[in-house]
Amino acid sequence: HRAWPGLIEAYRDRLDIGENWKTITLREGGTPLLPAAHLSELTGCDVYLKVEGLNPTGSFKDRGMTMAVTDALARGQQAVLCASTGNTSASAAAYAAKAKMGCAVLVPQGKIAMGKLAQAVMHGAKIIQVEGNFDDCLELARKTTSEFPTIGLVNSVNPVRIEGQKTAAFEICDVLGKAPDIHALPVGNAGNITAYWRGYGEYHRDGVVESRPRMLGVQAAGAAPLVHGAPVKNPETIATAIRIGDPASWTGAINARDESNGQIRAATDEKILEAYRLIAATEGVFVEPASAASVAGLLAAHAEGWVEPGQTVVCTVTGNGLKDPDTALSGMPDVKPIPVDPNAVATALELA
Ligand code: F0G
Repeated sequence: HRAWPGLIEAYRDRLDIGENWKTITLREGGTPLLPAAHLSELTGCDVYLKVEGLNPTGSFKDRGMTMAVTDALARGQQAVLCASTGNTSASAAAYAAKAKMGCAVLVPQGKIAMGKLAQAVMHGAKIIQVEGNFDDCLELARKTTSEFPTIGLVNSVNPVRIEGQKTAAFEICDVLGKAPDIHALPVGNAGNITAYWRGYGEYHRDGVVESRPRMLGVQAAGAAPLVHGAPVKNPETIATAIRIGDPASWTGAINARDESNGQIRAATDEKILEAYRLIAATEGVFVEPASAASVAGLLAAHAEGWVEPGQTVVCTVTGNGLKDPDTALSGMPDVKPIPVDPNAVATALELA
């Protein structure tokens, strides 16, 4: 039994990495594909969760970031910059720390989950809050890095990010021994759906798998430009990770949808939160709100008859629930402490 080497080593023959490059890895990837018994029962399908919150910084971004920071170092760049709703900044900060490179992150003011901010702080990134949303931050990051080429842009507009993220599709096929019939995932800036579709496409092209899944992309209803077919000026959702109005990988997402005979749909915050609580309570998996959009979308598509019974379905849950404790605890009643007394415990449990 050998230790998981990280995704660059695991899939080196499918990634464009120079032989003599120094690899920057935190042993990302190799995440569990967890059978989801309750979701399977609800849908009559074999549903699995691809638990990306178990990556080193708690989200799928690490897959792209091991590639992006390895690439930036090989190019001789001194620092990396990104715009972020939180997870990309946490990941960039960690990999830059590992590489001993500088890191700065542009985040929308007041709209990122506390855990993600804590990560960027601890890994020593320069944190710049911007009076604007993610789309403004990304535009700013693009302009800055084009003016200062010694700073590497590590958003998913950097193609090596997508290359790293496609490995999640490889892992799923490697475990299942085939491609799933349906793959559901949340969609924000649309890099990840683009990456999965590329991963499945490469395995299919090379005969590793015989089919490709229908892609089911899920946006938050208040931030669903791909569903409406036009950018959303002021995106709003509780799922701050996907609060994005003008996705950079727009065509990648539309191609994934159309080539796979799939769909991109919207889920309301209410439905997202319902799915968020459901998988925590029934599957034992605590994800952040944006991640639960995949499950919300699956259940809605199933209710419409889009999901045939007996199919193999994978839902990517993209980020760890611990990143956003505020949403988890909101609405929790204040509980009064009890005396150190078994009778008081019995009363609290309503046993007495
Ligand atoms: N889920 C989570 C937890 C995310 O953090 C993101 C994106 C997505 C889903 C959507 O993925 O953008 O590839 O469509 N977060 C980015 C960030 C925007 O800055 O961390 P996508």
